[in-house]
Amino acid sequence: MTAVAVTTAGKRMMTTGSLLLAGRATVRIVAAASVFLASHTTFALGGPAAQVDTSRCTVCHGIHGEGSPGGVPRLAGQNAEYMNHALGMFKAGTRAGPIMQPIARNLSDMEIRQLADYFSNQRAPRVEMAASASPQLVLAGKQLAERGAVNVAACFSCHAAQGKGNGARFPSIAAEPAQFVINRLHEFQARAQGKIPEPGTMTAVAATLDENQIAEAAAYLSQLGP
Ligand code: HEC
Ligand code: HEC
Repeated sequence: MTAVAVTTAGKRMMTTGSLLLAGRATVRIVAAASVFLASHTTFALGGPAAQVDTSRCTVCHGIHGEGSPGGVPRLAGQNAEYMNHALGMFKAGTRAGPIMQPIARNLSDMEIRQLADYFSNQRAPRVEMAASASPQLVLAGKQLAERGAVNVAACFSCHAAQGKGNGARFPSIAAEPAQFVINRLHEFQARAQGKIPEPGTMTAVAATLDENQIAEAAAYLSQLGP
């Protein structure tokens, strides 16, 4: 739907459909209702003013998309293109996800775009973990993330300093709930068993990680600031 706001004689009028301006600002409303807005008007031509229902997402991902300790990922501040692509893959069935696939299948491409943009623009502190990891585990995770190990490159060499992410390809991994990091790394590992992963992909990286390294990375990333 295209909403157009026009100021006529000091009043703001919101119309749907096309409008005709002839002579001295005669406005003919072709489509249904017109709405008078007292103070300000959201001006949009097929733009972001279109409302998208986020409640069906926040019920799990948190009110600002901060995620949950149970393993629901953080969406707040995540790269919009990355999320757009992720949701597209859930929809197409090319990314595994018993929870997200049926949800994404019910979304139009337009809704996916809007939801990705919406959550990307959200700001929220990291979600608090039920139990805090030991300082040793966190420190080992920090070393792995910053310097890597014999079997793996530093996480931040791809995911950028402090895991903030780098463009559409390398998602932000900072402040992700530990359980999500663990689950997702296991998922990449499972994928690596199906076929030999391409070098430089996360599937190839995850395939080299052992369980201790996964626990370390999860402990560290989950206590980083977003
Ligand atoms: C029933 C709980 C639930 C609901 C409702 C839900 N999600 Fe999810 N979502 C999850 C879980 C759990 C994961 C992680 C599992 C996975 O990756 O398959 C996830 C993963 C995602 C991811 C991938 C994030 C990443 O960084 O890899 C995106 C994007 C996402 N959800 C967006 C949404 C949007 C948008 C909605 C609303 C239309 C939504 N989710 C509704 C539980 C939910
Ligand atoms: C060679 C570059 C590279 C390195 C090194 C790397 N990653 Fe990744 N990582 C990626 C890419 C690319 C993706 C996106 C994959 C996708 O969505 O299919 C990704 C995705 C992820 C995700 C999923 C994020 C999400 O929101 O779904 C996690 C978690 C992750 N990486 C953790 C790590 C950890 C921990 C390390 C270090 C042990 C690491 N990565 C090292 C390239 C890398």
